[in-house]
Amino acid sequence: MSNVIKSRKAAVIGCGFVGSATAFTLMQSKLFSELVLLDVNREKADGEAIDISHGVPFAAPMKIYAGDYDDVADAAIIIVTAGANQKPDETRLDLVHRNVEIYKSIIPEIASRNFGGILLIVSNPVDILTYVALRLSGLPENRVIGSGTVLDTARMKYALGEHLRVDSRSVHSYIVGEHGDSEIAVLSSTNISGIPLDTFCEMRGYDNPKMELDEIAESVKNSAYDIIAKKQATYYGIAMSVRRICACIIRNERSILPVSSMMHGEYGIRDITLSMPAVLGLDGVETHVPISLNEDETTRLIQSAEILKGIAEGLEL
Ligand code: NAI
Ligand code: 2OP
Repeated sequence: MSNVIKSRKAAVIGCGFVGSATAFTLMQSKLFSELVLLDVNREKADGEAIDISHGVPFAAPMKIYAGDYDDVADAAIIIVTAGANQKPDETRLDLVHRNVEIYKSIIPEIASRNFGGILLIVSNPVDILTYVALRLSGLPENRVIGSGTVLDTARMKYALGEHLRVDSRSVHSYIVGEHGDSEIAVLSSTNISGIPLDTFCEMRGYDNPKMELDEIAESVKNSAYDIIAKKQATYYGIAMSVRRICACIIRNERSILPVSSMMHGEYGIRDITLSMPAVLGLDGVETHVPISLNEDETTRLIQSAEILKGIAEGLEL
């Protein structure tokens, strides 16, 4: 039986903005009965654990505590959010060397304890760090996943929902590729509950929607920069994205989510981790779902993979 079925424990490594917001969200989710928080700053992890525990009477029984690597080894899912975040003048890719060094101190600790669950990478640059976690852990590829463009896709659905005056849950759309500057909004297959995007735009009185849709995709791509300029960090959107990914795994939902995982020749891309819609369940990524892309989207996806590959190949692991 999978370790994931046996354990109702989750662990969050890194208890800064993202880790603590994620822990708070998971406390409310009722998905787990135990949550371990781990940070180099043990006091911070302890403080967050106590504070978040005080919400338990409003949710469901859950043991939340600061722990160490022995406590996380039998978790169903370990979520890694440790690492530097972007300053206003930085891109996600600028963080790579700092965060790879941090991962070199975290991932071997997990791998050496015979970890049998899912390793969910969130720190940035998330696609590169998913690749790094895969290489450093030696875990099977299906069990090492990046949160990828689940957040960007949620941002896109929200923005399109606002623009089209429709529930964002009725918007079916994906952002694929890098979680970052080279990401691709797949507008060619976006639909509103089966109605092609262009048709729905016309219905809402937008006659020539291409320019507006491109602007929406651009603003979604840049939204982290905008938020960081205003409030230093992003954390609520990613925390909800992590909760969604965890639910999909723990409940073996087999939903299709654009997580980051290893590519094996889809669109000619291999040996790099990036986001592509995938069937996600108890054993992690079951299979990719290579959605149809138009020529421009395909070209940009291949370029995105090349950017990531160039960085991954330059790392000393
Ligand atoms: P933060 O600076 O608030 O927190 C980072 C935490 O990591 C700190 O508490 C620090 O003590 C801890 N840490 C550092 N080294 C560690 C180690 N070796 N072991 C354990 N803990 C360690 O940063 P924030 O805002 O929480 O961001 C964390 C990461 O998440 C960044 O890389 C950021 O870019 C990324 N992020 C990713 C998103 C995504 O969509 N994938 C969305 C938002 C942020
Ligand atoms: C985000 O997109 C910074 O990657 C982070 O919010």
